[in-house]
Amino acid sequence: MEQELRQLESEAAEKLSSLKTLQDLEDVRIRYLGRKGLFTGLLRQLGSVSPEERPRLGKVANQIKEGLEKKFHARKAELAAAAETGPGSDDLSLPGRVIPAGRIHPVSQIMDEVCSIFVDLGFAVAEGPDVELDYYNFEALNIPQHHPARDMHDTFYISDSILLRTHTSPMQIRAMEMAKPPLRIIAPGKVYRCDSDITHTPMFHQVEGFLVDTKVSFADLKGVLTVFCQKMFDQKDIGLRFRPSFFPFTEPSAEVDIGCVICRGEGCRVCKQTGWLEILGAGMIDPEVLKMVDYDPEEFSGFAFGLGIERIAMLKYGIDDIRLFYENDLRFLNQF
Ligand code: PHE
Repeated sequence: MEQELRQLESEAAEKLSSLKTLQDLEDVRIRYLGRKGLFTGLLRQLGSVSPEERPRLGKVANQIKEGLEKKFHARKAELAAAAETGPGSDDLSLPGRVIPAGRIHPVSQIMDEVCSIFVDLGFAVAEGPDVELDYYNFEALNIPQHHPARDMHDTFYISDSILLRTHTSPMQIRAMEMAKPPLRIIAPGKVYRCDSDITHTPMFHQVEGFLVDTKVSFADLKGVLTVFCQKMFDQKDIGLRFRPSFFPFTEPSAEVDIGCVICRGEGCRVCKQTGWLEILGAGMIDPEVLKMVDYDPEEFSGFAFGLGIERIAMLKYGIDDIRLFYENDLRFLNQF
């Protein structure tokens, strides 16, 4: 019986290497390895072999079968590849293949949109380090050691004096250190906070904006932010609401709401029935901060604001879980 098995093996191997089409290959497979094939037929006879011989023969038969199956798959891949590229494969009547195209991540799209609106308004773009000194992230922004405002930031520390920036506001200091007013700058980038739920991710994006000159007033801040919101949400009559707030580096400070872009003020799930959506923090740059960079607060004044990009993207697209942006699920990303 072993001889017969070997005989079938070499016969099948020879046919496999000489055949030329996928159809022939399938015929050979059925003839030898199919349910009613020659090989299977032989295996059935194992039952009548003596019990001493049976285990050894069974093993041999299995090895042969596995070997043949391997050869069969290899040959199939070979023939399939040849059919794709070989002579006669240029069928001009076949429909074209669509090449999958990548696209810009929704967060980057919003980031680009925000930046281009401010660039149109005359702001220059500045970028700074994600790994930041405590001095720029806190100290120079009027948040000394042990200031309670530090608690709000859930900071990732690298060492006592080095951290991942928790906001883009350190760019205010870096930019002001390098130049004299007038200054009109936006600073887009990644920021980090040790926080994670449906509205927070440990890394997210902000755009900082600030303007310093003589005689800058809160009215200028309102004007710039109003134009920005009108353009960003494509709504000429968008409502803006400035709520008094506190940031150590601005005085006075405000949190800014826009009329809900989903329900237009009627009240819905997204605005929690209030008709308003908070979109950014802002204020007049605190004189203490101006002093830190050797600007004379008697001569110069300025405003600053910081907006969260993911938050704007969520509002614009009606997304209720921020984590969707970072799961890399193409079914989600393909929609933008
Ligand atoms: N940096 C503040 C934050 O991340 C936002 C802000 C920026 C507030 C500029 C006022 C002025 O919450």
